Amino acid sequence: MYSGNELRDMFLKYFEAKGHKILPSASLIPKDDPTLLLTVAGMVPFKPYFQRRVEPPFPRATTAQKCVRTPDLEEVGKTARHHTYFEMLGNFSFGDYFKTDAIPWAWEYVTKVLKIPVKKLWVTIYPEDEEAKTIWEKAGVRSERIVGDPENFWAAGPTGPCGPCSEIYVDLGEARGCSKPGCAIGCDCDRFLEIWNLVFMQFNRDEAGVLTPLPKQNIDTGMGLERIASVMQGVETNFDTDLFRPIIDHVANLAGVNYKDNAKSDLALKVVSDHVRAVSFMLSDGIRPNNEGRGYVLRRILRRAIRYAKLLGIDKPFLESAFRIIQRDYAHSYPELKENENFIISHINLEEKNFQATLDQGTQLLQEKVKELIKKGETVLAGADAFYLYETYGFPVELTDEMLAEQGLSVDMEAFQKAAEEHRLRAKEQSQQMRAAAESPELTEKAKSLGVTPFIGYEKVSATPRIEAIFVNGQEVSDAGEGEEVVIFLSETPFYAESGGQVSDVGVIKTPRAEARVLEVKKGVTGTFYHRAEVRGGVLHVGESVEVQIDNAERLATTRHHSATHLLQTALRSVLGEHVQQAGSLVTPERLRFDFTHFSQLTPAELKAVEGLINEAVLKNMPVKATEMSLTEAKESGATALFGEKYGDIVRVVTMGSFSRELCGGTHVSSTGEIGLVKLLSEGGIGAGLRRIEAVAGLESLIYFRSLDEQVMEVAQNLKAQPLEIGKRVNGLVAQVKDLEREIAQLQAKLAKNEVNGLLSKVAEVEGIQVIAAKVQASDMDGLRQMADLIRDKMKSGVIVLGAASEGKVNFVTTVTPTGLSGLHAGQIIKEVAKITGGGGGGRPDMAQAGGKDPSKLGEAIDRVPTLLRGFLKK
Ligand code: SER
Repeated sequence: MYSGNELRDMFLKYFEAKGHKILPSASLIPKDDPTLLLTVAGMVPFKPYFQRRVEPPFPRATTAQKCVRTPDLEEVGKTARHHTYFEMLGNFSFGDYFKTDAIPWAWEYVTKVLKIPVKKLWVTIYPEDEEAKTIWEKAGVRSERIVGDPENFWAAGPTGPCGPCSEIYVDLGEARGCSKPGCAIGCDCDRFLEIWNLVFMQFNRDEAGVLTPLPKQNIDTGMGLERIASVMQGVETNFDTDLFRPIIDHVANLAGVNYKDNAKSDLALKVVSDHVRAVSFMLSDGIRPNNEGRGYVLRRILRRAIRYAKLLGIDKPFLESAFRIIQRDYAHSYPELKENENFIISHINLEEKNFQATLDQGTQLLQEKVKELIKKGETVLAGADAFYLYETYGFPVELTDEMLAEQGLSVDMEAFQKAAEEHRLRAKEQSQQMRAAAESPELTEKAKSLGVTPFIGYEKVSATPRIEAIFVNGQEVSDAGEGEEVVIFLSETPFYAESGGQVSDVGVIKTPRAEARVLEVKKGVTGTFYHRAEVRGGVLHVGESVEVQIDNAERLATTRHHSATHLLQTALRSVLGEHVQQAGSLVTPERLRFDFTHFSQLTPAELKAVEGLINEAVLKNMPVKATEMSLTEAKESGATALFGEKYGDIVRVVTMGSFSRELCGGTHVSSTGEIGLVKLLSEGGIGAGLRRIEAVAGLESLIYFRSLDEQVMEVAQNLKAQPLEIGKRVNGLVAQVKDLEREIAQLQAKLAKNEVNGLLSKVAEVEGIQVIAAKVQASDMDGLRQMADLIRDKMKSGVIVLGAASEGKVNFVTTVTPTGLSGLHAGQIIKEVAKITGGGGGGRPDMAQAGGKDPSKLGEAIDRVPTLLRGFLKK
C-alpha cells in the first residue's frame, strides 16, 4: 500500500521521466495576481507562462502544489472528499505538448503505474471535444466509458487562462453510492470519484467574459493527492488516509472520543483535522490572521476549528499540538513548516487564547438572541447584532450564520456589511494615529545601538544585507509575516532616505520565500535607516540575509528632478540676481518644487529666460560630479550651501560643469543631458518675499506635453480648426458668447414683463381682497421675487402667491400689500402653502419666501390659496 508521501513522489518522478522539471510548491499567496486571494490550483503559479506575459523558462513542469479553496467550506467533513487545504499533483505544458500526449500519459499512469483496474474507470469530456474522445479511445478507453459533461470547462477565476477539460473517475462501487435510481457518473454522491482533471488551456477570458485564444496551446492537469490516496489505500474517505489519520487520532485522543464512534463527533473530528492543516500551511506561508482578505479566510478557518473542537469537548488550547503532528509528517516536503515555526506558533497561540476566552460568552449571547427571535416568530438576526458578535467576541459572521443555520435561522448579511463598513471608516482614522505612535522608545533605543547604517545607494541599486531588527507597532519582533507593516533595520542599504527635499526610494526586500515592499525610508538622528515596509508574502526573519532592490525607474525619475533643481537655482540667480536663496524644495519622481526668496512675481519674460537657461545647460551635457571635502574647502570653492543646513565636517559637493556647484547629499545624473527637457509649470507667491516654482523633467515633461497635445487636438477637432488656429477661434467664440448672453438677458426681461401682465389680468377676489396665486417659470428665488415685486408695483392692494418648480425643488414667494391688510401675514400664508409640497418657510408680514420638496404638489398648493386665505380671514 502506498503512503501519501510515496504517491506524491511517484507522480513527480513519472513526469520527470517524461521530460518535466520538478518544481517545489509555490506559496499559497498568489504572486502578483490581484484576481486571486489564494492559490486554488496547481496552475496558478504558471498563469504568466500560459498567457506568455513571461517567457516560460522550461517547456514542461510537474508539481505538488499547496492549494486552499473555501467555497465548499461547509461541505468539509460531510462528504468524503471536500477540503479547504489540499495538495494538487499536476503536469504542465507551456505551449509544448497537447492532448495527444497528455491523455495517453494520464491513462498509462492510472492503469499501469497505479494499476487501477480499467473496469473501475470512467472518463468525461467536454461535449464538443470529439478530438479528446478519439485520443482517449486510442489510449484504450472503451467508447461507452466516455461521457460528455457540459461542465467540463475549467478556469481559475473569473478572468485568465481557461479551457475545456476532461476528467478521469473511479467507480468505488454500488455500496458507496446513494442507490437512487439514475445514480451514475456525474451523480453528487460518493460513488463516482473524480481523480484527475486534464485541462486543455487554450483561451484567455477577459473581464467582459470574452474568450480569446492564448498564444499557444497548453496543458494543466490536477490530481488531488488526498483523493488518490483514499483510492489507493482502499479507505472510505480522504480522512481515513495516512494524510489525515494521525491528526484525527491526536484530536480524538485530546477529546477523549473514538473516531468512528458516532456521526456527530466524526464530523467534528474531520472538520478540525481539515482546518488545522489549512491553518498550519497558511501560516507557514506568512499569512497572518486578521480581518481582511486572505488573513480573514485564515481567521475564519482557525476559529471554526476551535469551535468544532469545543463541540468535541476540548476546552484547552490544542492547535499547537496538532500543528506539531503536521510539522512532523509534512516538513520534509514543505520546509517552511519548520523554518517559520515561531511565527506559526505565536499566531496560533495568540489567536486561540483570544478566541477561546470569548467563544463561550459569545455563544451564550447568541443563544439569548435566538430565544428572542423565536419568541417573536422571526428568523433573521439583525446585522447590528451579528456585527456586535464579530466586533466584541471575534465571531466571523459566517460562523454566526452557520450556528444560526443549525436552528433554521440566518443573519441579515446586508445590514452586517453596512455596519462593518461604517466601522472600517472609523478605524481608518485611528490607524493614522497608530503610525505616529510607532516611534516608540524601544525603536529609538535600537536605532541608537545599531548606529549609522552604511548607505551604498550612490553606486548600487541592490545589495544583500542582513536584517538587524524588525519592529511591528513599535515592538521588536523576531519575524514578520504577510500583511504586517514593519520597520526594518538593515546592515547596509542602497535605499536613499528622505532628505534634502528628495523623497526616499521604494523597492523590495526579499528572500526565496518571502517578500516585503519598502514604502518609505527615513534616517534617524543616529544615522540609522528606518525602512518602513509591508510584508507581501512569506515570513521575514531577523538575522537572515536578504536581497534588497530599489525601484530603479522611480529612483532615476527622482534623480532627474533633483539635478534639474540645481540647474533651476543657478538659472534663477543669473536671471533675477544673487539675492535668490533656496528656501525649501521637494523632489519626487513626478515633479520638482523649489521655494526661493524674491520680492515680486516673475514676469513671463523672466520665466522664459530661466527655462531657457536650464534647458541650454541640459543640452550642453555637462559632466556631473560629486566630491567629498571639508566644509571650509567647499565654501572656499564657492559651493552654494543652504542656510541653516547641518553639515558634518566632511561634505559632499555636487558640480555640473562650471554651471552649478552645490552642497548636496542627494542622488544625481552623471551628465546633464540625462535630465531631459525641463518645463516650468507654475510660479506663485507663498508668503512675504517667498516664491515657489514647480517644474517637470525627463519623461514627466513628455507626459505633460502629451496631455497638452491631446487636449489641443480635441479642441481643434471640436472647432474643426487647425491646432495652431485654436487661440484665434476661441477668442472669437468668447466674444460671441458674451453677445448672446446679453441678448438672452434682454429677452428674459421681456418675457417676465409679459408673464406679469398676463397674471395681472387674472386677478381673483377672495372676500373682497384681490389675489394673484399662480405657478410661474423662474429658475431661482431671485427671479421669483423680482416677478412678485413687479406685480406688487402694479397692484395697489392684495395678496400675491407665486410658486415655481426648478431642479426638482419648489420655490414660493408671497407678498401682502399694504402691510397688515385685513390682518393677513405673508409669513403665515406661505408656511401653509409650502407645507403642501413638503416644505417650510416663513418671513415678514409683507414679504416671505419658502421652499418645498415635491414639485408634483405645486399645482395643488397654488389651488389651495383661496381656501387658506378664507381660513385666515375668519380668525
Ligand atoms: N486546474 C485544474 C483543476 O484545478 C487542473 O489542474 O482542476
